[in-house]
Amino acid sequence: MRRKLLLGNWKMNKLISEAKEFALASHELADLATKSNIDLGVAPTFLSLQAVKEAANKNMIVAAQNCHYLPNGAYTGEVSIPMLKELGISWCIIGHSERRTYDNETNEKCNLKIKALIENEMVPVYCVGETLAQFEAGETKKVVGEQVRNGLKDLTAEQVKNLVVAYEPVWSIGTGKNASSEIAENICGFIRDILKEMFGKVSEEIRILYGGSVKPVNVKEYLSCPNVDGALVGGASLKIDSYKELVTNIL
Ligand code: 13P
Repeated sequence: MRRKLLLGNWKMNKLISEAKEFALASHELADLATKSNIDLGVAPTFLSLQAVKEAANKNMIVAAQNCHYLPNGAYTGEVSIPMLKELGISWCIIGHSERRTYDNETNEKCNLKIKALIENEMVPVYCVGETLAQFEAGETKKVVGEQVRNGLKDLTAEQVKNLVVAYEPVWSIGTGKNASSEIAENICGFIRDILKEMFGKVSEEIRILYGGSVKPVNVKEYLSCPNVDGALVGGASLKIDSYKELVTNIL
């Protein structure tokens, strides 16, 4: 039985003070989620990680939005995995479409990062998804299939058992044009089939999230799909009230 997972990706939003205020306001909700067998988390900017980690309930997952695959070196502007671990961070989003688009994040680079995270006993949340042009050209499965196969290349079943995959169609991110639950289920099921081909039985344990314009009104519909184990939420995770509603609406 896979536990439901709701992860808020704050992207480049919130000052440290705002992130801390959110964390302090989320304690009761984190307890409720735990009692209801839901894993709950947020991914603040690097700068706010420490404040959120310290202010939030210990059950709240605090994830980074990116990391470098090397432990240190001459990489200006980057943050390494040991730096995250020092703060007690054990989750990290990898390959978000905004990083693929604006920062030239390739499947190969994602693969290096995922391997480094797993070696460090951290949980990667690996994002995949097609652009609007690829969707319209009927290339979704081809693109997503390549992202999954190349991003998770050379890993073993044992290594991927805690990994999370997030399917986020690029055309649905921040646009209000969410993919239908049929599309989400179809592609999340397709991802699980590839995971089965690559890693066997452990594919049944790997959580697959849907992301893209998830809101309190539609979150339940996605989470009712057999292959959708949770949601990666942008805009609707920024305000504590709507974040609370995301949780209460799936109870
Ligand atoms: P929105 O929920 O704002 O569409 O963002 C989705 C996303 O990119 C989460 O990583």
